[in-house]
Amino acid sequence: MAIALGIIGAGNIFPAYLRTLQRSRLFRIVGVADAVPAAAHKRAEEFGLPAMAVEQLLASDASIILNLTPPQAHHATGLQVLHAGKHFFTEKPLAATFAQGKELVALAKRKKLRIGCAPDTFLGAGAQSVRALVDAGTVGAICFGTAQFMGHGPDHWHPNPAFFYQPGAGPMFDMGVYYLTHLVHHLGPIASVRGTAHTAHTTRTVPLGERKGQKIAVDTPTHIVSSLSFSSGAELVLTCSFDVWKHSHAPIELYGEDGSILGHDPNQFGGTVKFARQLDDWTRSTDKRPYTTNARGIGLIDMAQAIAADRPHRCSEALALHVLEVMERALDAARTGKPQRTTTTCERPAPLDQKLF
Ligand SMILES: NC(=O)c1ccc[n+]([C@@H]2O[C@H](COP(=O)([O-])OP(=O)(O)OC[C@H]3O[C@@H](n4cnc5c(N)ncnc54)[C@H](O)[C@@H]3O)[C@@H](O)[C@H]2O)c1
Repeated sequence: MAIALGIIGAGNIFPAYLRTLQRSRLFRIVGVADAVPAAAHKRAEEFGLPAMAVEQLLASDASIILNLTPPQAHHATGLQVLHAGKHFFTEKPLAATFAQGKELVALAKRKKLRIGCAPDTFLGAGAQSVRALVDAGTVGAICFGTAQFMGHGPDHWHPNPAFFYQPGAGPMFDMGVYYLTHLVHHLGPIASVRGTAHTAHTTRTVPLGERKGQKIAVDTPTHIVSSLSFSSGAELVLTCSFDVWKHSHAPIELYGEDGSILGHDPNQFGGTVKFARQLDDWTRSTDKRPYTTNARGIGLIDMAQAIAADRPHRCSEALALHVLEVMERALDAARTGKPQRTTTTCERPAPLDQKLF
């Protein structure tokens, strides 16, 4: 039987989800709601769905609510959804602060409801190939590595980029979240963080689109370098920046006792993964795995199936909360100049080697 699903937030990322959800045929979409009713109506019309008010959706028979609002609204929306007795799957990050994330997870536990959280790109072919190489010991135990997200911010492509420069977003919470989720999926939890953070521009000007010329206040660091100490003993450096025009580093490089792995872009489901044993040439992984192209929403599908099968879901609240804590601790470490230990941990999600639908 189709699972009744409601969606809150009808902005930029909405169509990507809808394509996956409609293709899966697993859901009956009860309605679409947005703080701006016109936004809900526009998307509803586009995809042949009912538009409704948030309160109406929360009173509906939807058993899961998908939250596609900006990060600053995740906490309040999550509380509303859980208090309405519904499972909550949210876009990343889980919340704008660790304290808010903890409150959501505690409430879900009390209410015996699930929380799932993007990014679900780690369920794609690229990340699953890296995970398989790590688990097979192809390059031995991973000792060191680097992860690099560096760009010049979303001003050039997002129609309303202001929220990216507020606490709860910035390059760490907006993009670092992909890299950290992938690294924790590959290597397990992070025990402590050190680092620095800087801001190259305290205001930015929207370069194009309807908001061209609009000034954006920058209220969160835009170049963050973090040293991550994993519980496994691995030591990695993560750089997250909205202040770099171009670079030529691989998104993720893992250095093992017996060789190295080059990972794909964690913001994508597929991509090239390579490995080399000791001084051998790079070999391209030829692993055939599902989800090589945009499949945003498969984390929600996995959660819906996990609820039915009474098994853990992969985009778990523990993973999301741990990653949220690491991101906040990275900024704390930069502000205080002191290493920060994490208080949360999580299991690595189960690998995914077959299609979910
Ligand atoms: N745009 C992307 O490419 C992209 C990619 C991956 C993840 N995400 C994530 O998806 C989420 C949404 O991003 P987006 O780009 O679609 O944002 P957006 O600004 O385009 O759309 C967000 C929508 O949420 C609505 N909204 C805001 N507060 C609300 C509230 N309290 N209740 C109901 N509706 C509310 C807004 O009116 C807007 O229509 C964010 O968490 C973002 O990190 C976006």
